[in-house]
Amino acid sequence: MVRSIIMLCIWFFIFFDLPGTSTLIDSLAAGQSIRDGETLVSAGGITKVGFFSPGNSTRRYLGIWYTNVSPITVVWVANRNSPLENNSGVLKLNEKGILELLNGKNSTIWSSNISSKAVNYPIAQLLDSGNFVVKYGQEITNEDSVLWQSFDYPCDSLMPGMKLGWNLETGLERYLSSWRSVDDPALGEYTVKIDLRGYPQIIKFKGPDIISRAGSWNGLSTVGNPGSTRSQKMVINEKEVYFEFELPDRSEFGISSLTPSGT
Ligand SMILES: *[C@@H]1O[C@H](CO)[C@@H](O)[C@H](O)[C@H]1NC(C)=O
Ligand SMILES: *[C@@H]1O[C@H](CO)[C@@H](O)[C@H](O)[C@H]1NC(C)=O
Ligand SMILES: *[C@@H]1O[C@H](CO)[C@@H](O)[C@H](O)[C@H]1NC(C)=O
Ligand SMILES: *[C@@H]1O[C@H](CO)[C@@H](O)[C@H](O)[C@H]1NC(C)=O
Repeated sequence: MVRSIIMLCIWFFIFFDLPGTSTLIDSLAAGQSIRDGETLVSAGGITKVGFFSPGNSTRRYLGIWYTNVSPITVVWVANRNSPLENNSGVLKLNEKGILELLNGKNSTIWSSNISSKAVNYPIAQLLDSGNFVVKYGQEITNEDSVLWQSFDYPCDSLMPGMKLGWNLETGLERYLSSWRSVDDPALGEYTVKIDLRGYPQIIKFKGPDIISRAGSWNGLSTVGNPGSTRSQKMVINEKEVYFEFELPDRSEFGISSLTPSGT
């Protein structure tokens, strides 16, 4: 009897309690990795991080996309300027809390950008918002525990809750930059930035040239549908200057993307 209860418990643990054996995990601990073909899925099942090939390309990139949006809409790319030539890529969180993308020769082709002082129990977690966050595993609620986050390094898409603009204390500028083409997420010609000269405004550039000014920040108000519950704001204070929008109704989906042709 005792023996069969123990067996039952073991069986239970094997099938239900080992996140490592399931594909539905949202985070990596130090030393853990995913390889091409595997994904991390956010806790609510809303976003995924994994490997993909854009358009007609056969090259492989590490990206983030929404699970329920079809066709696949990639909102962030890690190695946009350094593609993997085949599906031997591996994403690993190292002991210092740095995300490393390795190719088939174990060379690092991309890594997250943080000072590499030792970190206790770092964890890399994909959130439902689409933000991929590296933080101290033991104090996960404090924003200061964030070591690195993909929201600080936007590609061509602004998602709800993501800041477009400046952290004036650190000098970090978050801006959108277009893909080169639908087949190539490399840095393209167009950027959308917040210009701090004068009253802060959103400006679209082609290379170094200004091609449009939002004038007021309502220039991005085409995000989403009319009648949506979207709220948007421009925050200007001594620490930060940024634009952000929210979709309080979680059943709504909306992102703002800068296309390769600059629209
Ligand atoms: C892929 O290639 C086909 C055939 O050349 C072309 O019709 C299609 O538009 C391409 N799709 C993309 C996304 O580039
Ligand atoms: C994949 O690419 C890497 C580096 O470019 C190379 O070393 C490796 O042999 C390739 N693997 C396969 C299976 O082609
Ligand atoms: C890459 O590293 C892994 C883990 O350390 C090892 O098992 C594998 O043999 C290495 N591959 C190459 C090509 O060095
Ligand atoms: C990494 O940091 C350096 C120096 O702060 C910066 O120039 C570079 O753009 C950063 N790269 C990425 C991928 O964040």
